[in-house]
Amino acid sequence: MCKVRMLAVSAIALIMACVVFAQSPAPALPEGPMQAKVTTACTECHESRIILQQRLSKAAWTKEVDKMIKWGAAVAPEDHDAFVDYLTTNFGTDQPAYTAERLQNPTAKISKK
Ligand code: HEC
Repeated sequence: MCKVRMLAVSAIALIMACVVFAQSPAPALPEGPMQAKVTTACTECHESRIILQQRLSKAAWTKEVDKMIKWGAAVAPEDHDAFVDYLTTNFGTDQPAYTAERLQNPTAKISKK
């Protein structure tokens, strides 16, 4: 009986540790008419941050979307151009640079000599 309880306590402790150390939840993609479709098709294999951090031209987004489709992204042919436009508008080269979140020591300074 006691062993069972110990196991249960250990399991709960392990789950809590995972929750505490997990990366913060993936941020939502920006609002817009294509938000839902892009979220569905483009966060199936990886989370949103890999998209949020890009700053690409329209030509580069076209290549990127085509590559992801080749890899299995479910983008309807009639939505292809709207995907590229949504991504170029929100993550184009004219957007301010992405600021990466830090997992630890957010104020740690790198000493430069
Ligand atoms: C079938 C799985 C899958 C789907 C669906 C998918 N991707 Fe990817 N994507 C990948 C893989 C695999 C990588 C490479 C991952 C890595 O480097 O960590 C990647 C990487 C990326 C990158 C980083 C640059 C690069 O080319 O490596 C971007 C940007 C990206 N995907 C955008 C998208 C967009 C936009 C969509 C929706 C149209 C999408 N992905 C859907 C599998 C997918």
